[in-house]
This record gives sequence, structure tokens and C-alpha cells, in this order.
Amino acid sequence: MSEMLIPTQASEPSLDDPRALYCDLLKKALTRYVFRETWMPYHPRQGSLHGRILQHGRHLLRRKGLELVLQFPFDAEARATGRDWPPEAETMIGLRRLDNLERCVKDVLERGVPGDLIETGVWRGGAVIFMRGMLRAYGDRDRTVWVADSFRGLPKPAPHRVEDVEDALWQVPFLAVSLEQVKANFERYGLLDGQVRF
Ligand SMILES: C[S@@+](CC[C@H](N)C(=O)[O-])C[C@H]1O[C@@H](n2cnc3c(N)ncnc32)[C@H](O)[C@@H]1O
Repeated sequence: MSEMLIPTQASEPSLDDPRALYCDLLKKALTRYVFRETWMPYHPRQGSLHGRILQHGRHLLRRKGLELVLQFPFDAEARATGRDWPPEAETMIGLRRLDNLERCVKDVLERGVPGDLIETGVWRGGAVIFMRGMLRAYGDRDRTVWVADSFRGLPKPAPHRVEDVEDALWQVPFLAVSLEQVKANFERYGLLDGQVRF
């Protein structure tokens, strides 16, 4: 667990390049690296007496506009390397993979490689929001950013996929983010427009 902010390649952008500065801030906002999430909604375990009491308390609190939350220390390294599941950030892949994405998209733009951009499996949309932000920053008005997902989480593994059958992630509601929510996340950053297709 680290309290220090871990410097990353793209966290020290060239101060004379406003595009890099925008991308840097966008990455840190999408991962909540700058805001440091330190609490998440607390879901008491079903069944136990403790859980039932807390569940009851939670209903009472909600009537007053209050929420039961769990505090946790922000782990900057985990957030940089994409090893935690953020309560509110729009991406779970972490800063370093966003750095990598930035290098790839920049390379495509600088070398004039033709074609659109796509992410398959977007969750809350953070990585693909970042790609749309890069096109805006670099003045590209021609490419479409494609946002591909079930928008319902992972599918149930097919019985013949022996390697996936034990995988319970398809039952995890946290991984299911609706199309409306992903669109709202694009909108939050002012990046929902005709260059984005779902
Ligand atoms: C680990 S999350 C992706 C994280 C995301 N790239 C980010 O930046 O945080 C996996 C996503 O893939 C989607 N997904 C997984 N398997 C899928 C499938 N077979 N068809 C459609 N969507 C799928 C899920 O709905 C979920 O949103």
C-alpha cells in the first residue's frame, strides 16, 4: 500500500504541448488518480445477524439521504498498474495501460495510418473515452471511435468452453454497465458526439 503518487511516463508531459497536458489530465481523471477514491458503498453480507442489522440501518439512513460506506486507503500503485476495481472511476485498466494506449494512438495519428478506433469490452467506457479525447486533442475529425460491449457484463460461459466454465465473473453485477451509463460517462467529459458509435 503506498501513499505516494507513482510517476508514470505520461504523467510528466512536455509542458509546451497542450495536447499532452490534456491527455495527461484526462487519464488521471478517468482513473481518479488525482481525486484518490477512498470509500465505496458498503454491501453487508446477506444472511448473518450483523448483515441484517446493517441492511436495516442502511434503509433508515437512505430515507435521510445518507449512505453506508466502507473506507479504504487509496493504493496509488494499484491504480497506476490497474490492479484494483475502482468504485467510481470510468476505467479499471490503470494509468500505465492508458499511457500505452496514448503511445499507440499517437503513433497512428502521426504516421497517418488509416482507419477507425475500437475497444471491445469497455465497462464504464474510460479507455474509449480517452481515445475520443485524443482525437479531439489532435484535431482528427474523420475517424470514428467504436464502443463495443454487451452492456450487460460477461456472458455465461458456454458448457463446451472448459477453460471458462469455472469462471464466475459473468455473475458479477459490478462488471455490467448499461449503454445509457456509458453514454452518460462520455457526456460527462464533453466527448459524446457523432464521432462515437455504440
Ligand atoms: C474487465 S471489463 C473491461 C474494462 C475496460 N476495458 C476498462 O477500461 O476499464 C470487461 C468488459 O467486457 C465486456 N465483455 C466481456 N465479454 C464480452 C462478450 N463476450 N461480449 C460482449 N461484451 C463482453 C463486459 O461487459 C465488461 O464491460
